[in-house]
Amino acid sequence: MAILCPSTAIYHLLFSSLLLFFSCYVSGIPIYGAEEGKDGFHSTPVSSLLPKNKCSASARGGSQGLPITQKYGPCSGSGHSQPPSPQEILAEMNPDSITWTQCKPCVRCLKDSHRHFDPSASLTYSLGSCIPSTVGNTYNMTYGDKSTSVGNYGCDTMTLEPSDVFPKFQFGCGRNNEGDFGSGADGMLGLGQGQLSTVSQTASKFKKVFSYCLPEEDSIGSLLFGEKATSQSSLKFTSLVNGPGTSGLEESGYYFVKLLDISVGNKRLNVPSSVFASPGTIIDSGTVITCLPQRAYSALTAAFKKAMAKYPLSNGRRKKGDILDTCYNLSGRKDVLLPEIVLHFGEGADVRLNGKRVIWGNDASRLCLAFAGNSKSTMNSELTIIGNRQQVSLTVLYDIQGGRIGFGGNGCSK
Ligand SMILES: *[C@@H]1O[C@H](CO)[C@@H](O)[C@H](O)[C@H]1NC(C)=O
Ligand SMILES: *[C@@H]1O[C@H](CO)[C@@H](O)[C@H](O)[C@H]1NC(C)=O
Repeated sequence: MAILCPSTAIYHLLFSSLLLFFSCYVSGIPIYGAEEGKDGFHSTPVSSLLPKNKCSASARGGSQGLPITQKYGPCSGSGHSQPPSPQEILAEMNPDSITWTQCKPCVRCLKDSHRHFDPSASLTYSLGSCIPSTVGNTYNMTYGDKSTSVGNYGCDTMTLEPSDVFPKFQFGCGRNNEGDFGSGADGMLGLGQGQLSTVSQTASKFKKVFSYCLPEEDSIGSLLFGEKATSQSSLKFTSLVNGPGTSGLEESGYYFVKLLDISVGNKRLNVPSSVFASPGTIIDSGTVITCLPQRAYSALTAAFKKAMAKYPLSNGRRKKGDILDTCYNLSGRKDVLLPEIVLHFGEGADVRLNGKRVIWGNDASRLCLAFAGNSKSTMNSELTIIGNRQQVSLTVLYDIQGGRIGFGGNGCSK
């Protein structure tokens, strides 16, 4: 589905047991500020806003769960020698839901992929659908950045851990896979609300509860299911709400929440909450940066520019298709006083953003507000999408049966 706002999977899920490596398309992610800044501002070293090129082993996430790394970061294994620019990372919205992996025999296989599932070596594998009336025999997934996976549906027993075994797990057996899914990626894990997502297919045991912490590029986060996910403390919860019911967005498995307003440097924008309520606000980990309806985005950039008035704007060099338009030249400066941005969700769940959750760029002479406005010409231009850039280092708990999403933590290594 083409939504207005650029996205691509930038997170990698490293499966230790089970089928293989998946590139992780979660639906949703955020970050809490360390603490409330003085008057809503944080003095931030400019160097901390730039990409890091070394994986910090000490930053490893908790020992539990499935490790997650940034696809373009130094912790993702062989990785990319030159990380793509934000402009290159920002592509198109991705479809969610099904889980697929590469299968033998493979007509076209992903580069750097090491493992393939061999259906003929499995006694429990069956071709086609095992969830009545859901799928035919073949699937064809095309992602926003034009990567594709085409193959057949199949079913087999999925083992996440020795104690977590799911017979008749429906997945895509990819025979023809092309594009940049990340170095060493062998497939995709669907965490949406659709019937075929991993969340739905493991509901008997995990009760549709999972959590993730998306790491910064130099550390390792984790994905947890079921009870392990709920064992984390001090989360702030907001309710999951119904989507618009008409736009096809719900069918695509997105998670809708109630965003009420946004603050910049302790001042509320006072955008009417109806702006965020129709057609709604989704949390999506497949979308890179948070995208707002124009009315909210104009208010945000105006407040941000006011708060950053003492810093020079970076002019020129805006490439065609670059949706980041509020950029500063901070070269030669050691620190910058950044306004904290707070997302005020329903039920008092305030998510505080600072540092890299607020500013993004590869180079100190051009660091940009990491939010974008929806283009009017695109479908769903009034939709608000909370992207993964704003979720970095936050624990995000999806409690689908409890009808709520929890935010917490500061850093993935707890
Ligand atoms: C998959 O879908 C795309 C886009 O609809 C189409 O161009 C392509 O030919 C399809 N591939 C196969 C093998 O069906
Ligand atoms: C950024 O600022 C520095 C120092 O003031 C200046 O030398 C440089 O030309 C500026 N670069 C851009 C791209 O504006």
